[in-house]
Amino acid sequence: MSATLDIDFVRSQFPAFSEPALQGQAFFENAGGSYASRFVIDRLARFYRERKVQPYAPYEASRLAGAEMDEARTRLAAILNVAADELSFGPSTTQNTYVLAQAFRQWLEPGAAIVVTNQDHEANTGPWRRLAEAGIEIREWRLDPETGHLDPTALAALLDERVRLVCFPHCSNVVGEINPVAEICAMVHDAGAAACVDGVSYAPHGLPDVGALGADIYLFSAYKTYGPHQGIMTIRRALAEALPNQGHYFNAATLYKRFTPAGPDHAQVAASAGMADYVEALHLHHFDGLASPAAQGRAVHDLMRAHEEALLAPLLDYLAGRNDLRLLGPRQAAGRAPTVAVELDRPGEAAAAALAEHGIMAGGGDFYAVRALEAMGVDPAKGVLRLSFTHYTARAEMEKLIAALDAVL
Ligand SMILES: Cc1ncc(COP(=O)(O)O)c(C=O)c1O
Repeated sequence: MSATLDIDFVRSQFPAFSEPALQGQAFFENAGGSYASRFVIDRLARFYRERKVQPYAPYEASRLAGAEMDEARTRLAAILNVAADELSFGPSTTQNTYVLAQAFRQWLEPGAAIVVTNQDHEANTGPWRRLAEAGIEIREWRLDPETGHLDPTALAALLDERVRLVCFPHCSNVVGEINPVAEICAMVHDAGAAACVDGVSYAPHGLPDVGALGADIYLFSAYKTYGPHQGIMTIRRALAEALPNQGHYFNAATLYKRFTPAGPDHAQVAASAGMADYVEALHLHHFDGLASPAAQGRAVHDLMRAHEEALLAPLLDYLAGRNDLRLLGPRQAAGRAPTVAVELDRPGEAAAAALAEHGIMAGGGDFYAVRALEAMGVDPAKGVLRLSFTHYTARAEMEKLIAALDAVL
């Protein structure tokens, strides 16, 4: 029998929930940035106190600093089921995609084609579209204007031998529907192309098994996944070796340095090991027996998703029952991330401000998903109200949210 998430244990791992300054506030802008677990906060503080020196030198503080940075990369890679040197840290996902796009610009011949979507956050579409300037053909895989759904059969019509790369989201940050990544990656590979998946809106809901998904590039943001402000990307070896190195020439042989030209933020990279600590702690608390990091990751993922789906269903029912708003994305909790955008009679930001009066921390706006909103007929200037939660959200907070929505809408 599968375990159920022990929500009290979960919340005890996040100092924010016992922080006096945040009492009485229910957090519903997690898709913008999550709380950090105690493991991450403790590691960050320890690094700044004890290890804030140039890493990888022979003296002890430096050795420990470098070892902790390596630990973060190695342990997270193991959970994601990729090799340790296939994972790298950059300042943000947006920074990572701009660097990757530069590598593809140098690598692809004019006349090659890239498929992008209009469901993505701008970070995984804008940088690629700019390659049109270098003679790359850009093909757009379009969402359904009513539902926001991205249909894989529509992708099939766009694939031919000229397509070298397909960029799409694991989950859009305004539609919330979880795209069938493994199925799409298989289609992309059959067509001889590589797949670049934006997992920023998905990873906070359970770290994925990237190996099983088959994504050649998988990107997500640690600061939305209980960690520090870093972008994390995995690039499978064959592609990482084929793409031109974007870092210093003498670092070209080190896979994880090839697409991160900036000097890394040592403390934040090291503190990212706390993300692995958290997965391990959740696994230890809920399951008996030893398991590989990837198996732990999968088990913890499923725990998180089950809790989120149970809490999401009543919110979707409530929103679907109102006739004064438009719920974007699927109406069913299964197969949906708890990232719920609604179009209202007023700007999303005004609704968020009204909710703040009721102790609800939510956001309004376009969330940099301007193309997706426009394609669904939502004026980005008016924007949407977005209510996003995660596995650490309690049932009582969902009730508080629904009561607040009742009061302000
Ligand atoms: C789905 C999605 N992709 C990409 C990004 C960009 O991430 P970063 O802020 O790390 O550049 C965001 C940030 O909101 C996002 O929600």
